[in-house]
Amino acid sequence: MITILAIESSCDDTSAAVIRDGLLLSNVTASQAVHEEFGGVVPELASRAHQQNILPVVDAALKRAEVDAHELSAIGFTRGPGLLGSLLVGTSFAKGLAISLGIPLVDVNHLQGHILAHQIEPAPEMVRKGYIKGITEADLPLRHPGYPHICLLVSGGNSQIVLVRSPYDMEILGQTIDDAAGECIDKCAKVMGLPYPGGPHIDRLAKEGNPTAFTFARPQIAGYDYSFSGLKTSFLYTLRDAMKANQVDSIEELYHLAAEGKMAGYEGTNLQADLCASMQATIVDILLKKLKRAVLDKGIKQIAVAGGVSANSGLRQGMLDLAKKMHWEAFIPPFSFTTDNAAMIAEAAYYRYQKGDFCGLEEAPFAKTCI
Ligand code: KG4
Repeated sequence: MITILAIESSCDDTSAAVIRDGLLLSNVTASQAVHEEFGGVVPELASRAHQQNILPVVDAALKRAEVDAHELSAIGFTRGPGLLGSLLVGTSFAKGLAISLGIPLVDVNHLQGHILAHQIEPAPEMVRKGYIKGITEADLPLRHPGYPHICLLVSGGNSQIVLVRSPYDMEILGQTIDDAAGECIDKCAKVMGLPYPGGPHIDRLAKEGNPTAFTFARPQIAGYDYSFSGLKTSFLYTLRDAMKANQVDSIEELYHLAAEGKMAGYEGTNLQADLCASMQATIVDILLKKLKRAVLDKGIKQIAVAGGVSANSGLRQGMLDLAKKMHWEAFIPPFSFTTDNAAMIAEAAYYRYQKGDFCGLEEAPFAKTCI
């Protein structure tokens, strides 16, 4: 029997999960509201919150799984990429626990974890007890992509197209050369006066808006790479120019003018929703065009999406529509496995454990993106 406790602490979610013989027994996450008032994650505050959360979160994950620490075969942990201070909390905790229990450590790349979130299979009895948030009995068994498949990995810090040959063999075909899609979404949301993280707010507002109300710059980048900094600037300039043309100093005044039907250069009344819908549609279009090209070139028929931005309803629908049109199979993870969570780290650690791929105590966390 292989039982692994996994810890995720790469950004602002402290999460712990237990997997036994490939079945997820628990997945507990503490999010950090402390960053909201700053409009983004403050690394020092994130590390401090991880420090406070990690013990209760690990304890809850073991209790929910009904597993005693002495039954564990290994400790898995996210080694990177992420915020170094945050990673250090999870890494140090994992090392300490592994030493005290005399069991091996398994390091996991956070991005591979996001991709392997598609392979998570929750234990039915834990789902029945309501212990696996966001999954009901009707969802079981979950659908899993086979190999090879192509995964669009879109999170706050990454936008990549990855060829996934096996749980151990992944190749980045293309990636952003500047901002990630999530970063662009969050920055545009901030300009619109929306709370952090802006992704879910943009998603909600976009449903009420017109996706063709505004046209933003689209990058012309070779190959499968992305660029989102031009779109972010184009969004900013659209608002700056509109404020100038309407002689107002703030976006709120612009919203008021629009609501009264008095905004020059704009015919609608729900300016915020139209901006969200147009920006979201542009991002989804950019993401899916490159994905389509990569999938056609590689001759692969299974596509998947992973990472926090894969919670976006426009992107989910776009993936499904594309797959239907092209006669491909699309795999979209349950919401609870899209944003940062330890279940995906446990899944990746389980594969590495079976290969005997352990990590020495001398290994340090890494901040930079790699796979
Ligand atoms: O994967 P993730 O939880 O963290 C990183 O590892 O980066 O992704 C967080 C990103 C944020 O940019 C957030 O705004 C975005 O995912 N996000 C969304 C939605 N939910 C979260 N973006 C668009 N639509 C959503 N519904």
